[in-house]
Amino acid sequence: MFYLCTTNFCSKSVQNQNIYILAIESSCDDTSAAVLCNDEVLSNIVATQKIHEEYGGVIPELASRAHQQHIVPVVHQALAKANIDKKQLSAIAFTRGPGLLGSLLVGTSFAKSLSLGLGIPLIEVNHMEAHILSHYIREKGIKRPEFPFLAMTISGGHTQIVLVRDYFHMEVLGQTLDDAVGEAFDKSAKLLGLTYPGGPLIDLYSKEGNPKAYPFPKPKVDGLNFSFSGLKTSILYFIKREAAKDPQFVQDNIKDICASIQYTITEILMDKLKKAVKQTGIKQIAIGGGVSANSGIRNALAMAEKELGWKTFIPRFEYCTDNAAMIGIVGYYKYLKGDFSDPSVTALARYQLGGNSRVRNIKKD
Ligand code: KG4
Ligand code: ZN
Repeated sequence: MFYLCTTNFCSKSVQNQNIYILAIESSCDDTSAAVLCNDEVLSNIVATQKIHEEYGGVIPELASRAHQQHIVPVVHQALAKANIDKKQLSAIAFTRGPGLLGSLLVGTSFAKSLSLGLGIPLIEVNHMEAHILSHYIREKGIKRPEFPFLAMTISGGHTQIVLVRDYFHMEVLGQTLDDAVGEAFDKSAKLLGLTYPGGPLIDLYSKEGNPKAYPFPKPKVDGLNFSFSGLKTSILYFIKREAAKDPQFVQDNIKDICASIQYTITEILMDKLKKAVKQTGIKQIAIGGGVSANSGIRNALAMAEKELGWKTFIPRFEYCTDNAAMIGIVGYYKYLKGDFSDPSVTALARYQLGGNSRVRNIKKD
């Protein structure tokens, strides 16, 4: 387990009264707690579970147990870093879903108990909405997108393009039909014998490889949806075929193979984004999720800014990966609306963006 944190000072108050939100995130393999003063982050603690590395992927039962061990120290540390006593808190926000049920249950139960104990409101948060609204965490020198904008969330668990009309009016324009883009990176890396999570390693090797060395097919998927399972299969067959001719093939050509995989994934994402821009006429693009660290994707977005006049937004990496600060910013906006949850609320493993009345999904070709 390792801890990561930031500390800022709250400078803005709403109607002269500061709102302090304690936020909890436990949807997958990161236990995180944050304290926000209005829309500014006072602390954001993340305990990453290293135990999954040896298994090459997240093991749900182990994740749930690790959350149980981490949640109390992580919350304590978040309050201490923020220099906030729990009696000062205005509300508790927590991730209701989507995610691993056993993991979500730990955060949900903790948040419910604490809100009942302190007698303060409980605020459920959709994890996907939080990735999108992480762009609204107030930070010096960081510009926030203006509504409406397109959000693309790319991580080990998600791949979505969403039309964001305002804080709580979002339309899912497209999403993956099978693997998430981070899984595509990680599973490809596993086929190449790289350690988990392999996305950053593919990125690293790509820097010295030829992206056009091995052309991999791009999936043909209608509209703005994605599919990555075919890419994984074609990489598997490609490696088997080449390794049958030369057992050293992967070792000798790892940089070119990684660059070619990264190039193909980047093209798949950019093709869909271009389609979404054409369909909506919106050129503000906000990216989130762990995969947004990828240098190939970042370069492609920088090119699109220059050549296509897009305006792109990527939050600090700390707010791209799973973290409680993004849960807290949604909690803040929900607090302002008085949108609180009943104490009987339960965790939801499947919680589609649009799973509540104010957000809906639409399908477009
Ligand atoms: O958002 P995140 O920390 O956790 C969730 O999956 O929700 O994202 C982790 C994913 C992993 O699949 C990891 O391989 C990928 O993000 N990732 C990257 C890079 N850094 C992290 N993929 C490609 N290139 C990177 N530089
Ligand atoms: Zn996530």
